[in-house]
Amino acid sequence: MNYSFSNRIAALQPSIIREILKASSGQNVIPFSAGNPAPETFPIEAIRTFTQSILEQDPVTALQYGITEGYAPLRDTLTHHLKTNYNTGTASDELFIVSGAQQGIELACKVFCNEGDTIICESPSFIGSLNSFRASGARLVGVPMESDGIDIGKLELALQTEQNVKLIYLIPSFQNPTGVTTSLEKRKAIYALAKQYGVMILEDNPYGELQFSGEDVPTIKSMDEEGLVIYVGSFSKILSAGLRVGYVLAPNEVVQKMVVAKQGEDVHTAMLPQILAYKFMAEYQYAEHISSIREIYRRKSALMMDKLKEHMGNSITFTQPDGGLFLWCDLPAHIPMLDYAKAAAASGVAVVPGTAFLVDESEPCNAIRLNFSTPSDEQIVKGIEILGQVLKQYS
Ligand SMILES: Cc1ncc(COP(=O)(O)O)c(C=O)c1O
Repeated sequence: MNYSFSNRIAALQPSIIREILKASSGQNVIPFSAGNPAPETFPIEAIRTFTQSILEQDPVTALQYGITEGYAPLRDTLTHHLKTNYNTGTASDELFIVSGAQQGIELACKVFCNEGDTIICESPSFIGSLNSFRASGARLVGVPMESDGIDIGKLELALQTEQNVKLIYLIPSFQNPTGVTTSLEKRKAIYALAKQYGVMILEDNPYGELQFSGEDVPTIKSMDEEGLVIYVGSFSKILSAGLRVGYVLAPNEVVQKMVVAKQGEDVHTAMLPQILAYKFMAEYQYAEHISSIREIYRRKSALMMDKLKEHMGNSITFTQPDGGLFLWCDLPAHIPMLDYAKAAAASGVAVVPGTAFLVDESEPCNAIRLNFSTPSDEQIVKGIEILGQVLKQYS
């Protein structure tokens, strides 16, 4: 059969970077390339007990169709949580449940972008979102990241010069892949620009609860008096990634459109995971659980940074994140980064070449992304030592 794929999908090709990742996904490879939460953060016993009690006490709600907007007690609890703890959300906003933040991001693009419309993204940014935007036929414009967030001057220039800009996509807290947190000053500047140019902001905050150092910075959504911000959150990194529960907080009129779009995708997010997420927030020691996850990531990130300093300290620079799951390491200019990533994989350590996260993969980039949540402590110690040895081969 000669398959005739749609133009949108035909244009998406597996890149050389993804081939490197495939080659380094073996069982004995040390996984600095993944973005999985640490398995020890899953509250397995509580999930087991809650599942049993749901199936004993109210099996029909868990097994029957639900409404597209999501399980009402979960929506109410989240709305209250965001308002009381993050001053996020106004009376004209509404919250609905999605099957992971990824779906919220895709729905935002679907309801605002026609084919060829522009989305301004931080560059580098999260591959899952970039690919979802690309698959929808949107045109991506990358604005470089700095150590305190997107380059504001270049963002303004893009807003002035690009045609049909519909969304500014941002991960302001503990960004994937750089680990950078956008400063309060820049958040205010971004919001002011969005208002000036009449463009919506898509604020992706799956790591918001995972702060382990530094100052709390308010969400951009907490500044939103004009109905300009679509805020996306997730249970993937605080409860379980496999349950696939996320949420969107946005102006009521926007939510109504996103809900209609979601109906055509999966009707609603699976009920059992939604009820589990509700019980996790309402009946579990939520705050204690979050602080125990923060502690795990504080320790793991510190271990990785210590080992980087020990084995590669004179040669590389890396971000020191206040939260999230990633470090972004700049290699010395004379080292060919893709080559280095291949050599690391051949030595049993998987890293992600930084170019994978660029809006334009052909731009120069000499960085790699390292994940500290998935590997064990022993793997962190061993893996960084190996990365140091591979680096020495180039000097
Ligand atoms: C920045 C960012 N946004 C969204 C997602 C998707 O999260 P979810 O599992 O909730 O779909 C991820 C997952 O790693 C991410 O890093």
